[in-house]
Amino acid sequence: MTKVLSISRENIDRSAIGEAIDALRAGKTVVFPTETVYGLGALASDPDACRKIFEAKNRPADNPLIVHIASMDEFLSLSRNVSEAHIRILRSLWPGPLTAVVRKAEGIPDIVTSGLGTVAIRMPDDNIAKALIEGAGPIAAPSANISTMPSITDSKDAIRFLGGRVDVIIDAGRTNYGIESTILNLTSNPVDLLRPGSYSVEDLEVFFGNIRVGDVARGFAEAKVAITPGMKYRHYSPVKKLYLADSMESFVAMAENLPDNFIALCTDGTRKFVRGEYINLGPESSLYVIASNLFSAFMQLDDSGREYGLIPPFPEKGIGLAIMNRIRKASYRTIKSLDDIS
Ligand code: TXA
Ligand code: MG
Repeated sequence: MTKVLSISRENIDRSAIGEAIDALRAGKTVVFPTETVYGLGALASDPDACRKIFEAKNRPADNPLIVHIASMDEFLSLSRNVSEAHIRILRSLWPGPLTAVVRKAEGIPDIVTSGLGTVAIRMPDDNIAKALIEGAGPIAAPSANISTMPSITDSKDAIRFLGGRVDVIIDAGRTNYGIESTILNLTSNPVDLLRPGSYSVEDLEVFFGNIRVGDVARGFAEAKVAITPGMKYRHYSPVKKLYLADSMESFVAMAENLPDNFIALCTDGTRKFVRGEYINLGPESSLYVIASNLFSAFMQLDDSGREYGLIPPFPEKGIGLAIMNRIRKASYRTIKSLDDIS
């Protein structure tokens, strides 16, 4: 049985938060909101509880978890050999949608890090997540979706997909960014982007200097080595086939002649061209809005009566880099025209 606790971020119900904290302390799994997407958490210090996360999500054991913290003291006790300069930067950027991969301190259970010598840590900027961590201690949590499916940005979907699979779900509505945190590997020099996310690379470079952005981070290639284990798996995918148009122009040309078994994932500016049904991602002038609607649009594609989806590309600037990474990983193929579909 899953217990659903409705909690508002603006006015936190202390007794409901207390119930979730008690559940974590008792080794149970709790789905909770962060500013990016919902997380499926358990106490990071409890290997048996962390094992339940992998079972609930169907997550392969070689894909490590992010440890969520609420203070720099927790960061210092979970990590080692982090430079003073990096500690200073993290202190100023957290809480926020940035995950740092650093060398791990002794005592972190192997199941959390899949036995790697490093650990991924972040301090979420969400009052509910903060209250939970302050009450129970650091929480290990991946995104709260079934493996390979789109991440969950609305508690309705958490209840729909994870009801019956976890002990507690905190029902707090939609998350703020709707796309996961940016992951940086701080053990490499220059710092390496492992996954683009809500924090843009341009903004992070102001603090970290040049950041290396490889093909894997852009969503083109799959990682061959275990440096970012998550990258070698299929991700964020709707069940229906999603086709990515190779340009905005080809998207519009295809949308005008869309076959009946397709639905277009369009923008404010392109919906007038779509023949038939569409899902609107929002204004192309605000990539933050597009990002926050992306995963729920993938879910609407699955819920639609159509077999296929068509989506345009977005500029790979700012959060657009994360948007394109998620779209490339979610899509079946990139096409120029409807003739490319076999
Ligand atoms: O916004 C987020 O980051 C959300 C919320 C819940 O915090 N979490 C999230 O977790 O997206 P998840 O598990 O879906 O993605 C974590 C990624 C995975 O690709 C995993 O392989 C990578 O982080 N990761 C974890 N530990 C790592 C490590 N030590 N070295 C390299 N990559 C690591
Ligand atoms: Mg995930």
